[in-house]
Amino acid sequence: MTNAELERMVDTTDEWIKARTGISERHIAAEGETTCDMAEQAARRAMEAANVSLDQIDLIIIGTTTPDVIFPSTACLLQKKLDIHGCPAFDIQAVCTGFIYALTIAEKFIQTGSAKTALVIGAETMSRIIDWTDRSTCVLFGDGAGAVILQAGDEPGILSSHIYADGEYEDLLNVPAGISHNSERFKDGTAFVEMQGNEVFKVAVNTLGRIVDETLAHNKLGKKDIDWLVPHQANTRIISATAKKLDMPMNKVVLTVDKHGNTSAASVPLALDTAVRDGRIKRGDTLLLEAFGGGFTWGATLINY
Ligand code: UT7
Repeated sequence: MTNAELERMVDTTDEWIKARTGISERHIAAEGETTCDMAEQAARRAMEAANVSLDQIDLIIIGTTTPDVIFPSTACLLQKKLDIHGCPAFDIQAVCTGFIYALTIAEKFIQTGSAKTALVIGAETMSRIIDWTDRSTCVLFGDGAGAVILQAGDEPGILSSHIYADGEYEDLLNVPAGISHNSERFKDGTAFVEMQGNEVFKVAVNTLGRIVDETLAHNKLGKKDIDWLVPHQANTRIISATAKKLDMPMNKVVLTVDKHGNTSAASVPLALDTAVRDGRIKRGDTLLLEAFGGGFTWGATLINY
């Protein structure tokens, strides 16, 4: 869906969207296409790229805020689609930080020897919780899924993970209805993303600046040691503020928000996949992944790819 299409739906312009967010287009799931359908495609492509077979997968975690149904979890639905049986499979709900949370949990399973080959996914159909008459939110989001395979090895691939949350900021970004609260809005389909964008923006910039500093300090690394920043794709202005903090030129930052919009938990793995497949990210590169989102939740992962 292009900005031009949105111009026909709400009072907005291509210029405003590009200038304020960097977004030119986003993808919207087809009617009947679910979060799990997209997660399956991402999962199969990740297994193919990693040369891993279905019978090796012994853990499935999906970061999602938009599961297909209340239960079973999207991870269990995916397990059925993939015809995998028995391994633990569960969803993590940390909104835009969902993939960083999922990756962090999978890493702990692997570190403790509880899993050897984890399938970790971020997948969202944000379009289903957007008010398409609200120009302040509908221009921002998109649908998608990205996946990685995380495997036990002799050398550490994930150098460190840092995840946080502060529920104090609930009012700035939420969908204020669900199963046990305002359930009538959930049932009549008017439970939509509500955001005080400007306030979220300020906290996001400050928080991401702090967490990248913390991640570097924890690993005793300097800014020059990071080869690629793979940030959550909400807004190019937020991303360039974090890059500036790291003294990183924008050609060392993976930017996909222009083509994907904000796909919440799917955004970091989609960006990672894009830069791995087009050859920018190479084996041995040091990657800094970071995200910030509803909750508030935020996190960063440092990877030796
Ligand atoms: O991923 C989870 C975390 N989420 C984020 O990180 C998003 C953080 N926030 C943002 O990215 C930005 O705050 C937005 C892109 C959402 C908004 O940009 P902004 O520069 O903060 O704009 P604003 O909200 O201060 O609005 C500026 C003006 C307002 O008009 P007035 O009051 O100045 O007359 C809005 O009504 O822009 C207006 N506006 C629009 N105009 C055209 C808001 N949305 C639109 C629109 N088209 N789609």
